[in-house]
Amino acid sequence: MTSNIDNTRKVLEARASGLVFPKGFVFGAATSAYQIEGAPAADGKGESIWDRFCKVPGVITDATSGDIACDHYHRWGEDIAVLKAMGLGAYRFSFAWARLIPDGTGAANQKGIAFYDRLIDDLLTAGIEPYATLYHWDLPQVLQERGGWYNRETAQHFAEYAAVATRAFGDRVKKWTTLNEPWTFCWSGHASGEDAPGLNDGTKGGVTASHHALLAHGLAVPVIRTEVPDAAVGIVFDLNVTEPATADPRDVAAAKRFDGAQNRWFLDAVFKGSYPQDMLDLYGDLLPPIHPQDNAIIAAPVDYLGVNIYRRSVMAEGTELAPLNFQRIQPEGTYSEVNYEIWPRCIYDILHYVHENYAPKEIYISENGVATAPETVSADGHVWDDLRAIYYVDHLEQVAKAAGEGVPVKGYFAWTLTDNFEWAYGYTTPFGITHIDFETQVRTIKYSGKIYGQIASQSHSEPARSAGLGR
Ligand code: FCB
Repeated sequence: MTSNIDNTRKVLEARASGLVFPKGFVFGAATSAYQIEGAPAADGKGESIWDRFCKVPGVITDATSGDIACDHYHRWGEDIAVLKAMGLGAYRFSFAWARLIPDGTGAANQKGIAFYDRLIDDLLTAGIEPYATLYHWDLPQVLQERGGWYNRETAQHFAEYAAVATRAFGDRVKKWTTLNEPWTFCWSGHASGEDAPGLNDGTKGGVTASHHALLAHGLAVPVIRTEVPDAAVGIVFDLNVTEPATADPRDVAAAKRFDGAQNRWFLDAVFKGSYPQDMLDLYGDLLPPIHPQDNAIIAAPVDYLGVNIYRRSVMAEGTELAPLNFQRIQPEGTYSEVNYEIWPRCIYDILHYVHENYAPKEIYISENGVATAPETVSADGHVWDDLRAIYYVDHLEQVAKAAGEGVPVKGYFAWTLTDNFEWAYGYTTPFGITHIDFETQVRTIKYSGKIYGQIASQSHSEPARSAGLGR
């Protein structure tokens, strides 16, 4: 006799088998350095703003840090084995700037370079393409002490760092992302203070950091192209289709302001060559100096846009971050452990929004995934994360639909390869498709990882079949 849960899983596996993606579609998993590596001071690594921030009492829910995390610095081989077991063809990871250049500027650290050499070589041996990100939030602390993203010079230092990294790895790494989610690290780090460096400077902080971060991106693009002529260069934004909570003109205006701050500010700058006029007018005196040549630098042509997407945004007029003055509304529905609404259509909507308004040559979903409460390995040896497995099938179905309608979406990266340090949430809200027992560091591919691996594998072995996963 089969139980209801077995039937539910069979139906899900059949849906997964029915998904059709364009030929060559890339399936991968994503991580970031601070969230997985551990080894914060090994082999000459410099301190980063996240190393420093985690020591501030009360900022991390469970008072933890990335000091050990997944011990990836020593166990990268196990993580590559997990990618391989799932049949994934791509791995998106970030370099820790302070591992490569401990003080953020100046001499490179050969032992830091050697670590990523090993990782990249082993990925290539396993047939997995590296997608490298230069900046996933861990600014060297020395640069923070010189003003961090408030200091225009940080943009120049970032371009020098891009040169060091591309010279070291560009012979083997051909996919280069400059920044991960400038909206989040600039605003959560400088406007609301939830993330490192923990500054609470409101809109002025967020917009000042954002301009310098975009400048850093724009200065790095030609450097990467010079060092790696056959590179594909892009940037990753976290974007949300924004809906007004009601038809009240005040809510409609608040939704437009939020869309302007999170989406259009970054997209217009990179793809249209200027910031949106309504946002320049709104920010007014809060803007940092914008030099005449800045717009052209930021709009250096890119080969792809990476989109990180976790939810939609429903906005009403409110009091957050004046003069943005919005309030996030949580519609009735199902919410993840980090309180994000589970709304699969968000991925379809954002793909169309980006394609229709900005037409990047190629789009990747560079992150998508869901947080749950911490899980355990059950007696049968499996981690039955049915909610996450359903999440992936539901969201990938929306990606396949957009691709089928002509949106040039070329790949998808699950966030995230393994349970890891989820910033201010510490280890309380895992997103992994692989479970880690943080006592023993044992990795166990979850049910979601098996379903995802099935989808990835069938995309290069037609026809699709249900593999009867986990039983
Ligand atoms: C994104 C980050 C990533 C992870 C996920 C859940 O904003 O890029 O590091 O924290 O959210």
